Amino acid sequence: MSPALKDVSALSADEAASELARLAREIALHDRHYYEQDAPKISDAAYDALRARNDAIEARFPDLVRPDSPSARVGAKPSGQFAEVVHAMPMLSLGNAFSEEDAADFAARVVKFLNLKEEPAFTAEPKIDGLAISLRYEDGVLVQAATRGDGRAGENVTANIRTLKDIPERLTGAAPGVLEVRGEVYMSHADFAALNERQAAAGRKTYMNPRNAAAGSLRQIDPAVTAQRRLRFFAYGWGELSAPLAATQFEALNRLKALGFPVNADLVRCPDVAAMLTHYRSLEARRAGLGYDIDGVVYKVDRLDWQARLGFVARAPRWAIAHKFSAEQAMTVLNAIDIQVGRTGALTPVAKLEPVTVGGVVVSNATLHNEDEIARKDIRIGDTVVIQRAGDVIPQVVEVVLERRPEGSAPFVFPKVCPCPLATPAEREVNPRTGERNVVRRCSGEFACPYQRKEHLKHFVSRKAFDIEGLGEKQMIAFHEAGEVKEPADIFTLEARNASGALVPPLQERDGWGERSAANLFAAIDARRTIALSRFINAMGVRHVGEETARLLARTYGDWPAFRAAAMAAAQPGSEAREAMLSIDGLGDTAVDALGRFFSEAHNGAALDRLLEQVTVKPEKVETQESPVTGKTVVFTGSLERFTRDEAKARAQSLGAKVAGAVSNNTDYLVAGPGAGSKLKKAQELGVQVLTEDEWLALIA
Ligand code: IVH
Repeated sequence: MSPALKDVSALSADEAASELARLAREIALHDRHYYEQDAPKISDAAYDALRARNDAIEARFPDLVRPDSPSARVGAKPSGQFAEVVHAMPMLSLGNAFSEEDAADFAARVVKFLNLKEEPAFTAEPKIDGLAISLRYEDGVLVQAATRGDGRAGENVTANIRTLKDIPERLTGAAPGVLEVRGEVYMSHADFAALNERQAAAGRKTYMNPRNAAAGSLRQIDPAVTAQRRLRFFAYGWGELSAPLAATQFEALNRLKALGFPVNADLVRCPDVAAMLTHYRSLEARRAGLGYDIDGVVYKVDRLDWQARLGFVARAPRWAIAHKFSAEQAMTVLNAIDIQVGRTGALTPVAKLEPVTVGGVVVSNATLHNEDEIARKDIRIGDTVVIQRAGDVIPQVVEVVLERRPEGSAPFVFPKVCPCPLATPAEREVNPRTGERNVVRRCSGEFACPYQRKEHLKHFVSRKAFDIEGLGEKQMIAFHEAGEVKEPADIFTLEARNASGALVPPLQERDGWGERSAANLFAAIDARRTIALSRFINAMGVRHVGEETARLLARTYGDWPAFRAAAMAAAQPGSEAREAMLSIDGLGDTAVDALGRFFSEAHNGAALDRLLEQVTVKPEKVETQESPVTGKTVVFTGSLERFTRDEAKARAQSLGAKVAGAVSNNTDYLVAGPGAGSKLKKAQELGVQVLTEDEWLALIA
């Protein structure tokens, strides 16, 4: 290659075309040397540089991609090829409303939270069934595009996004210096059908639905492939901004439209809930004719200052909700009922169905919930059943079509033992407080039960836990079934055991693995030898201690030794440690008891110690902005005048304070409004600093 290559961004179309022709010839020649004659003429690095140049030019000039393009000749490399992008502002998800009542409740919560006199205006727009993308513009130029990923960090898909005609490379008109536009990438029904036809004709895999096709197309390693798929985009929001776009959601989206982004034509502003529901019904009626998939309507509080006050809970905004369309139904035959064993021993019945298409997706499994549901609906093997599917939710069996019941069928008898080889008894616990029998039958084998162990390992490597790239459920199960990973610590000794010949055959020689993927896996495992406390707690897989609780615990105790000591001490009824843990807003007896039980089992402690020889738990950094109240524990009492109680609490938490329900030695501030009673008295006794609402506001200002 000549050393005087022009920057791709400076090429004219003619220059690009002639360079692509030259690259196609050159790369084909090197391919022949390499593959056919086993005699490469250039180094790997020089070869990679040729391909990279070809890709870059094709990404900028997708229309010039040649039929003999070198990029068309390589399949998609395995995932994990895209660099990670940490979002400047997290990409959140939405809470769901499944009925008109849910939607009205949402609006009522907003009114209550903000203490409004009347319903605020909302925007309503279709919920596009595609994948979320964040587009970063600096000084009006697209500099980065990232997928949502886990909300905190996604994949850098800039090269692929540049091939979308809907997405401007440069903005038309004055825009904030930093502007992150967020929206949905999707594929139309017509483009989806055409793509699948082409795929089938070429003997390649076809896609399940337009959303999968859009995701698959965007995640192509080779932007030239993405360029051949017609992906589209709607903007619905934004992330980081150096200056506000407008005062309302509706005006902000209109500004994005003026800047060159497609905004859905069915975005409307609604003065009240009645108008929102009218728009919802109208969209539901027109849904099939839109030409692309939508799965509901998103409502957002229109005033942006109110959105800011409403803030977020967990990972969804309080100011928006997705009102889902009702489920789609179909009829099919129930061939069998499988009993699956969950991580915590729950026996879950699963309907094995004669495959049937429901709303464009082939369904062959559906949930039957539990023993009582099967009995209540009298669901029998061989029955014809109505199943329904809503969005991403697992399909469910709604009812039996009795007229079609075959003769001689018998009611289903739910097993009283675990289906695992140990056939451990499975019981339905009785709640000591209510005396009621739990609907869930649970295997009592815990870690002795091979099925629970397997689920536990799957959970350990899952996305919200250790999230090891290349070690998904499938791979985890394979290692487990080969007896190579019996407990989490074993994951971290795989590489050493592979090197010493203890894994037979060695990983790189197994089906689906090679030198490169094995090395990648070991690198990904190594990358997780340091892990944040909240992920670690979640990964332990203690019943009732999920992602959210793990986060609260991590935030409260900060590091592993403090957390472990506290959790063990909290097992003692009446102990101070227990009181302290219970005072964390969001933690109840059930979770505290479950932690206590977990740590009191010697084998759990031993397995944890073995794991801790392999990994280091990173103390949690508090995710919020530093403020004078970060890390402090606050109790609110009496009536507040400037805020609703919910709003005060949310504000305090977003500043890193812990909000407790009761005053104790750990309380730093009691914020007392008029009418404060016993809590105020207790605070005075304990010498806790008491603030008025105004003093509190001054402190956090
Ligand atoms: S707003 C903080 N509006 O739905 C609010 N989301 O379930 C962020 N989606 O990840 C989302 N259409 O991918 C919003 N009109 C719309 C949407 C929409 C589709 C997707 C988006 C998001 C998911 C949340």
